[in-house]
Amino acid sequence: MRLADKVALISGGAGGMGRATAEAFAREGAAVVVGDIEAADAAAVAKSITEAGGRAHHLLLDVTQESSWTAAVDEVVERFGRLDVLVNNAGISGTFDPDLSSTEFYDQLMLVNAKGVFLGIKHGGAAMARSGGGSIVNLSSISASIGQPGIHLGYGASKAAVRAMTRTAAVHLADDGIRVNAVAPGMLPPMRTSRGSADPVWRTKQIDGVPMKRAGEVQEVADVVLFLASDESSYVTGTEIMVDGGLTAV
Ligand SMILES: NC(=O)c1ccc[n+]([C@@H]2O[C@H](COP(=O)([O-])OP(=O)(O)OC[C@H]3O[C@@H](n4cnc5c(N)ncnc54)[C@H](O)[C@@H]3O)[C@@H](O)[C@H]2O)c1
Repeated sequence: MRLADKVALISGGAGGMGRATAEAFAREGAAVVVGDIEAADAAAVAKSITEAGGRAHHLLLDVTQESSWTAAVDEVVERFGRLDVLVNNAGISGTFDPDLSSTEFYDQLMLVNAKGVFLGIKHGGAAMARSGGGSIVNLSSISASIGQPGIHLGYGASKAAVRAMTRTAAVHLADDGIRVNAVAPGMLPPMRTSRGSADPVWRTKQIDGVPMKRAGEVQEVADVVLFLASDESSYVTGTEIMVDGGLTAV
């Protein structure tokens, strides 16, 4: 098993890619902690993993609150004794508010998508250092690399911040035996908070620009997160893997 005896915390683990990642990790032998602001949904994911024979736990995590991170990390370590893998997956869509000039929405995007990752690296990284090392995987996006219509500027800005923090954290944490990488999904199923980007017309236009001419599946992202979480990527740090069917290669 690729994650045997590892303990993993996944933020936003109740959502599409987070859930697929939690299930993949559990199948590969990890004890998985599903953290999400949607506590009932996180509980349902953990329950279904446990019923399938995996090891899972759920907790309420609001990635924007430092106290929520410290409580979550303490709970993981108290329950499982260590933290080996952190997936900073929680996020909100850049199309939730159709007002592309909203300053409040800019602040919200940076708070959840960028500061949420900073806090995860800070507290998850500290616990991992105490466990002797580990792997942090951050979810960025193609929106950090390319412009797309209808998406608030703050979304790409927040994801570019994730990419930059990934590199810097990889440098800072290497001495602690912690690798830090990012995965940048392209056209995946809409997020919980997607509005404009869930519109079929908008999606068809975007998918037309994908060399592979299709959207990705959440499992295809989870597989790359799994690779970066596992020891198979033991010499990979500070990088970002695009999972976009070639969209950003055009
Ligand atoms: N779906 C896409 O097309 C796409 C493309 C590129 C990048 N991404 C990124 O991938 C990640 C996962 O996206 P997804 O498609 O699974 O979306 P999703 O909406 O299905 O899942 C995101 C999860 O994050 C949770 N969340 C939101 N705010 C939170 C908070 N403050 N604290 C804790 N949890 C919170 C949500 O409840 C949800 O369960 C996100 O970071 C997203 O920005 C998604």
